[in-house]
Amino acid sequence: MKVLFVCLGNICRSPLAEGILRHKLKLSGLESNVRVDSCGTSNFHIGDLPDSRTRRNAEKNGVILDHRGRQLSADDLDYFDFILAMDRSNHNNILQLTDDQAQRNKVKLMREFDTEEGEEVPDPYYGGEDGFQEVFDILDRSMDGFIAHLQSKGLI
Ligand code: 4NP
Repeated sequence: MKVLFVCLGNICRSPLAEGILRHKLKLSGLESNVRVDSCGTSNFHIGDLPDSRTRRNAEKNGVILDHRGRQLSADDLDYFDFILAMDRSNHNNILQLTDDQAQRNKVKLMREFDTEEGEEVPDPYYGGEDGFQEVFDILDRSMDGFIAHLQSKGLI
């Protein structure tokens, strides 16, 4: 099973989603069943570590992030099984890369798996510290829902 998380910059939300999923899979002994990666729709932060505020907040919650930024490519739509977008804009930008229905079906909003109401993972980049914990909490819940989905479908 191969999972790709996508946001705009690939320095806040998607590398955190990647780190949280890796962390949870490791705790469950499932890490060898899933390949996990993240990327951005933009080319703004290629090669960069996640934002220092995202890394600090993740560490406070027990998650270490060492991803380096990369940009989404059309090949990703072929390679990955699940492509999880953080917001509507990311979702639309991903779908613009392919007309293939099987590939389009792989693209979902991360919060489809949230157990609480909400459509988008908000971009914390221009906000305060509270926004980073809010994003962590949303992704933490959504990831539990996503893992439960994979397990219920026998995919992991
Ligand atoms: P992300 O947040 O999409 O969650 O990584 C952002 C990071 C950087 C920028 C925008 C959003 N930026 O414009 O540089």
